Amino acid sequence: MKIFLDTADVSEIRRAAEAGLIDGVTTNPSLMAKVAGDRDPKELFLEICNAVDGPISAEVVAVDAAQMISEGKRLAALHDNIVVKLPLTEDGLRTCRALTSEGIRTNVTLCFSAPQALLAAKAGASYISPFIGRLDDIGHDGMDLIAEIRQVYDNYGIMTEILAASIRHPQHVVQALMIGADCGTMPPKVLYQLLKHPLTDRGLEAFLADWNAKVGKEL
Ligand code: E4P
Repeated sequence: MKIFLDTADVSEIRRAAEAGLIDGVTTNPSLMAKVAGDRDPKELFLEICNAVDGPISAEVVAVDAAQMISEGKRLAALHDNIVVKLPLTEDGLRTCRALTSEGIRTNVTLCFSAPQALLAAKAGASYISPFIGRLDDIGHDGMDLIAEIRQVYDNYGIMTEILAASIRHPQHVVQALMIGADCGTMPPKVLYQLLKHPLTDRGLEAFLADWNAKVGKEL
């Protein structure tokens, strides 16, 4: 499963990319708004593209298809790594079809049902982003949606990649891996929770204590 970092914070992105922990980045207008300030958002997207050599999802903010298509083309022209992120609306899917026909990769976002995921795939989406955590928030089991989409896509040989989104904790990641999601996007906090284990820390502490007590030399 490819791991994407769900943030527009370039220092977090560089840290994770330099450690080889991530395959790409997803952003959304809320994440961009947190860090963009007065900066030209296109410059920020470019900075992110230069920090990670992988798919970088950049979301349109227009709501009608004609404007979304223009925004999508402008975003795609910024860098080869840009994947244009589109909302799962009728206009979003029209835009998806139009951009796909020009060879532009798309990530259809805000997916909350398997039929929505089917329609996005029919429109040519490269990625579908089902939101796990936001379904959990309203008392559903978000992971059921990942399983349903996996089954539907496998039944019909659909190649759109399932990008498990709105991941809130490491168990979401484990379950998405077990189901066979193609990608998962998570905030930095969850990424580093995946890396840490108390037994790793305790084990390392004991190894170094033994070494220093009896040998104490650098290698
Ligand atoms: C996905 O592409 C979204 O940016 C993100 O995963 C949403 O997560 P949230 O529900 O925690 O805001």
